[in-house]
Parts: sequence; C-alpha cells; structure tokens
Amino acid sequence: MKKPPIIALDFESAQQTFEFLHAFEGDVNVKVGMQLYYKEGPAIISKLKERGFDIFLDLKLHDIPNTVKSAMEVLASLGVDLVNVHAAGGKSMMEAALEGLDKGTPSGMKRPSIIGVTQLTSTDERQVREEQLIQISLQESVLQYAKLTKDSGLDGVVCSVHEAAIISEVCGREFLKVTPGIRLPESGTQDQKRIATPEEARQEGSTHIVVGRAITGASDPRAAYEQINARWKGVEWIG
Ligand code: C5P
Repeated sequence: MKKPPIIALDFESAQQTFEFLHAFEGDVNVKVGMQLYYKEGPAIISKLKERGFDIFLDLKLHDIPNTVKSAMEVLASLGVDLVNVHAAGGKSMMEAALEGLDKGTPSGMKRPSIIGVTQLTSTDERQVREEQLIQISLQESVLQYAKLTKDSGLDGVVCSVHEAAIISEVCGREFLKVTPGIRLPESGTQDQKRIATPEEARQEGSTHIVVGRAITGASDPRAAYEQINARWKGVEWIG
C-alpha cells in the first residue's frame, strides 16, 4: 500500500500552517522545510506531532561530518520520522549523519529514516554540465549519488520520478525513492525542472511523493490532495 502524499508545508509561519492544516486530520504526512523551521524552530515540530502528523524534516544538511553528526543528534531528539542530507557531502558525512541519528534517538523510540538528496529536481542537464562541470548525464550522476547513499547505510534518496526506476533496479525496490516535482497536467512547473504526475510516480516506482504548490496553492487544497492521492494510489477519482 502506497504511503499518502507528503504535503510540503512551505508557509511563512505556524499560524498560516495551521490555518492550512485545518482541513486535514492527522492522517496526512507533512514536510517541514527550511522556511518554516527557521522561522518557528523546534516548537513547530512539537505542535505538528501533537496533531498526529508524520513529519519529514527537510533541512538538507551538508557540512563537515562532525557538524552533521552533532546536528543529526539534535534532530533525532525532536522525534521526527524522516530527515535528509545532501549526498554530495560524501560517504563519511552520510555515515556521520547516521551515527548522530542513532545517538540522538531517545531509547525505546525508532530512529528517524534518513535519505540523501541526489540532484535537486530544480536542476537540469545544462546545469549539471555547465555549472557543476559533471561530464556524465544527469541520470548517471543521480545514480552515482544513490549508490553512494546506499553504501553509506542510508535508507533511500530524494530524486525525481524520472530516475526512480533505475534506482530501484540498482539499489532495490525497498530503498526509499522520495520524489518531489509532482505536478498535475494542468498545473505550472514554477522553479521545478524534472516534474512528473502522480500516476508517473506510481508507475516508475517512487515510494513516496512530496507535493507542495499543487496542493497548497490550489483553490480547494483538500480536493487537490484527494485527487492527487487517488491518482498516486491508482484508484478512480470521482471529483
Ligand atoms: O511546491 P513543490 O511541489 O515544487 O514543492 C516541492 C518541495 O520539495 C519543496 O519544499 C522543495 O524544497 C522540496 N524538494 C524539492 N527537490 C528536492 C528536495 C526537496 O523540490 N530534491
């Protein structure tokens, strides 16, 4: 059974966030990113946990191993369900992240899952070639980061839907493929480049989808969520 879509709570404040969440029970998964976390701090996590939401804390850590390890120790103590690092930080950084998480997880609690960001879904082939000076294709670069993430002992990656199938083949079906850049055919791409529909995500083997503006920017967010959820799960949408 597919996990429900993860709603990206890219809001300015706790007040806006809870106004939005009014239409949702604790049955949805949410993602807290930099904007909301930097504004509201750990208190936003406690408030969301009180409401029963599963939380992906998307802070994309990328620093020297020791710093990432200490930071992860703190994040684990917040009781979130999923965290991430940039795979570009390297194997020793990712191993340190895992160590920090293990150390910081309160006894009797489950360690948060941890995934590596491969190439951002806002990155395209030209940027990989001209800005990062990477000579292989974007897909090969994503695959290399996925293999490195797996070798480092992490639970999965953030990637676009377009790389999910090849990552499943190489890293296994159970390896998490958390895919942002989800759009309905009628919605705009905004800053995202490697986008896909919920149906494509299901077909290509994403294990989780992250959806922000297609839900948060909709005139009826609950209806948009239900439609995306139905398309993701492959059930008929009557709306
Ligand atoms: O609004 P939209 O659906 O594009 O939001 C996608 C969310 O997923 C944003 O919060 C963004 O920070 C996050 N994300 C992403 N690409 C990644 C990792 C995270 O778009 N590789």
